[in-house]
Amino acid sequence: MKNFTSVHDLATNGTADNGAAIDALVQKALQYKTNPFVDKTLGSNKRIGCLFLNPSMRTRLSTQIAVQNLGMEAIIFNVGSEGWALEFEEEAIMSGNTVEHVKDAAPIFGKYFDILAIRTFPSLKNREDDYSELYINQFIKYAGIPVVSLESATLHPLQSLTDVITISEALKTSPIQKPKPKIVLTWAPHVKPLPQCVANSFSQWMTAWNKADFVITHPEDYELSEAFTKGTTITHNQNEALKDADFVYVKNWSTFKDYGKIYESNPEWMLTNKKLTLTNNAKVMHCLPVRRNVELSDEILDGPHSIITQEAGNRVWAAQAVISEILKNNG
Ligand code: CP
Repeated sequence: MKNFTSVHDLATNGTADNGAAIDALVQKALQYKTNPFVDKTLGSNKRIGCLFLNPSMRTRLSTQIAVQNLGMEAIIFNVGSEGWALEFEEEAIMSGNTVEHVKDAAPIFGKYFDILAIRTFPSLKNREDDYSELYINQFIKYAGIPVVSLESATLHPLQSLTDVITISEALKTSPIQKPKPKIVLTWAPHVKPLPQCVANSFSQWMTAWNKADFVITHPEDYELSEAFTKGTTITHNQNEALKDADFVYVKNWSTFKDYGKIYESNPEWMLTNKKLTLTNNAKVMHCLPVRRNVELSDEILDGPHSIITQEAGNRVWAAQAVISEILKNNG
């Protein structure tokens, strides 16, 4: 693995089977959870630059902790608020607000760091631009060093790896009596248009993992890109989707077709304990941050079904597993 920007980067890890590659990375992460310092010299004398074009709590802190566990130094740069405004378009005439082209900045990051990690969000204004992943691809093109996505315009692979780790861990401690767990991704209400990244990414990883009966439920008009959901069962009936579910992943996203809008935010879509009675005593997941009593009810967040804090804790082991693979594969 050279870069880590989607589940497809795992295919370069020497196995054609993405499910097996995911499981191998999950096992590695769980080994780090048991013994965080087993590779404490792997990253000695190496430096990762973590560039944030957007705010973050979990991604920033878990990545810093993960690289420290590997003996590596992390330098955090809040480019979005502290750096020069970057231009990403090729052949741009830079007479507007942007001050420095990524073509000039990225190779310098390549001199300062051994790995570059980048957090960007979509504009939610222009779908083609966002789905071209221009920002992260320009860093990959010009930095000349491995690039790790800390969430991009359309995907959040470290979050999805964390989610598979958390599900695998839960299945070990509470095995289910059926060949595959039923995992439901449900849309939830929100007050602001949010990216589709977490939902796209979770869907992409569930499909590649191929070890779950995976169902997506959302109101009409909230279809995700087929690039990530092809072959998945999708229903607009949330109650039907929740029936016998073992895991319920709750997330809001804005519209994909008429891009970046909120069409309706029906509070009926918020998960409650009453709705959970339809499930197989399901465990509830969310990537955080969460708007309480809008996206998810207090009773769920504070109740026994939630494995959300454990999930956020696992962000460290996901980041450590990915960065250690990159260190091992790139000298
Ligand atoms: N889940 C997640 O990416 O959290 P942060 O936005 O706090 O990094």
